[in-house]
This record gives sequence, structure tokens and C-alpha cells, in this order.
Amino acid sequence: MNPRIRLAAASVADAEALSAAGERLFVQAYSDFSQADDIAAHVGHYFGRDSVATELQKPGVSYTLAYDADAIAGFLKIRRGPAPDAVPAAEAVEVQQLYVDAERQRRGVGRMLMDHAAATARDEGYAGIWLSVWQDADWAIGFYEAYGFQRVGTAEFWLGRSRFMDYLMWFGWDSEGEGRTETSY
Ligand SMILES: CC(C)(COP(=O)(O)OP(=O)(O)OC[C@H]1O[C@@H](n2cnc3c(N)ncnc32)[C@H](O)[C@@H]1OP(=O)(O)O)[C@@H](O)C(=O)NCCC(=O)NCCS
Repeated sequence: MNPRIRLAAASVADAEALSAAGERLFVQAYSDFSQADDIAAHVGHYFGRDSVATELQKPGVSYTLAYDADAIAGFLKIRRGPAPDAVPAAEAVEVQQLYVDAERQRRGVGRMLMDHAAATARDEGYAGIWLSVWQDADWAIGFYEAYGFQRVGTAEFWLGRSRFMDYLMWFGWDSEGEGRTETSY
């Protein structure tokens, strides 16, 4: 827990700020790995102001902002709903977006946001949380594995003309609240 960081649920009023943060942090993390026009199209589709405003109003979707004073240090998007077959729960919470500003990484912000996702899912009665991550994103996989996620499958992801292979990862808890120890991957 980083005492400088404050988490806040985002509302439609935050669409502009979330859009700007999403564009900036996605480009920061992934611009070296694809072509500029594909990145621009992806960012426009997923982080454009209107897309974010639409997502913010969808049932089952929540965004959480992490503030360091007035600056956005990172954000989280979760989505409740059906999970892929590889995930050991038919319905679960997907961590769809998790981004921490490069200048503020390795200070516990990602863990705070993930704790929030897990606590929300647990409080709502789900058995765990899942996500999809690019197989070459060692930094993110390192973070997820340190958190307790396990690889349960693979998925294909297209960013414009570039095909990326993802891992599907799962972090579940039993009735005592412990992370699972078995893996099916
Ligand atoms: C992945 C990400 C969210 C992690 O956020 P963070 O705030 O830096 O992570 P934390 O400081 O909470 O790290 C918690 C633990 O995870 C592990 N971890 C974090 N970053 C890691 C890395 N780059 N490599 C290996 N392990 C890592 C460590 O065990 C760390 O504990 P420690 O710092 O005490 O060693 C962040 O790197 C990020 O936003 N990256 C760019 C966007 C991205 O790739 N998002 C995910 C895919 S969409």
C-alpha cells in the first residue's frame, strides 16, 4: 500500500481524463511493439473519449483511478461477465485494463489497483479474476505472477495488422480466501 495514492471510482464526468490517461499510458507501454497507425487506431477505438464514456455507462463495467495528489498515477477497468472456457469459472471479473504511469511504477500502485479488483470481485461473490496479457509483456506477467495469477490458457489478439499471442491468467480464491495452488495450463 502506497500512502500517497488515493483510489477513486470513475464516473462519466471522468471520461475525458480517463481517455487522456489511457491514450498516454497505452502509447507509453506499447508504442515500440507495433506500427504507429495501428497504435493510433487502437488508442482511438479503446481510449477515445466517446468510447470511454460509453464503457463507463455499461452495466458490469467499472473504472478506478489512482491519484498521486492531483496527477493520475494509473487506472483499472474491470468487467463482470462470462469468462473464456479456459478460465475455471463461467462468470468472473475480467481485469480488462490496468495501467500505471512509467514514472510511478514499482511503487505499489498496480498492486493497490489489483487489490481493489480482487476485493470487488470477492465482495460480489465471484470466485476469482482473470485477464489476458501479451506473452512478451514480461513486466506485466512478472507483476501478475507475483500477485498470484496462474496461466490457464492462450488467446489471439489483433492490433491492426499485428497478431499478438496472449496468455489467459486466473487468480481465484477458495472459501478460506486463499489463492489456488493448482494450475490447468
Ligand atoms: C504491470 C504494471 C501494472 C505493474 O504496476 P506497478 O505499479 O509497477 O506494480 P507494483 O509496484 O504494484 O508491483 C508489485 C510487484 O509486482 C512485481 N512486478 C512489478 N513490476 C514488475 C516487472 N516489471 N517485472 C517483474 N515483476 C514486477 C514485483 O514483485 C512487485 O513487487 P516489488 O516492486 O516489491 O518487487 C505496470 O508495470 C504497467 O502499468 N505497465 C504498463 C502497462 C501494462 O503493461 N499493463 C498491463 C497489461 S495491459
